Amino acid sequence: MLCDRLTIRPTGPEDTKAIHKVESEAYGRKDEALLAEALIPAPPVTFSFLAECQGKPAGHILLTEIEAPVRALALAPLAVVPEFREMHVGTTLVRHALEAARSHGFEAVFVLGDNMYYERFGFSSSLADPFRIKWQGKRFMAIEIKPGCLAGKSGKLDYPEPFYNLDGTSGH
Ligand SMILES: CC(C)(COP(=O)(O)OP(=O)(O)OC[C@H]1O[C@@H](n2cnc3c(N)ncnc32)[C@H](O)[C@@H]1OP(=O)(O)O)[C@@H](O)C(=O)NCCC(=O)NCCS
Repeated sequence: MLCDRLTIRPTGPEDTKAIHKVESEAYGRKDEALLAEALIPAPPVTFSFLAECQGKPAGHILLTEIEAPVRALALAPLAVVPEFREMHVGTTLVRHALEAARSHGFEAVFVLGDNMYYERFGFSSSLADPFRIKWQGKRFMAIEIKPGCLAGKSGKLDYPEPFYNLDGTSGH
């Protein structure tokens, strides 16, 4: 079943509670909610979108600028509350966030997560392999928003500090 009235919109300060609820219900813990709360008002560029199904908060996604050899963002967290899963809310959020990144001139997005889920969008771990980060491994993936931008590139990635306080079991 799909949500027949799904809307995606950028979040504002009035959405803090809704983001907290969506993130903590989706992950079954508060860590990702706290990560989003720490990152959204902080200096690096963030893109934060809330999905609403029939007006009810259903999902949230956050992209945050990282230091990398190209203009890049980290995708994390991505959350869809159990009630609205398998309705392509997550897919719609990911596509919307990637489009926002593209339209603002970003070149690549990195994510730590489920390979099967993210590969459908074009993320691949081989694209992320040459980059150094604490959570490097098979579940660490990248997508080129600007085609070819990661070819021949390598080096260290630097994420905003709150990422390092999160364990890597869920994804970031
Ligand atoms: C992972 C999550 C965001 C997926 O949200 P969702 O809105 O249910 O996903 P979608 O409906 O867009 O799923 C799209 C497709 O991916 C599949 N899919 C869903 N979750 C998946 C997963 N974890 N692994 C692989 N495939 C998955 C769906 O079956 C669907 O397949 P279809 O296109 O053949 O129908 C959601 O389950 C969630 O919030 N989980 C808890 C938090 C989490 O793990 N976040 C991601 C961290 S990397």
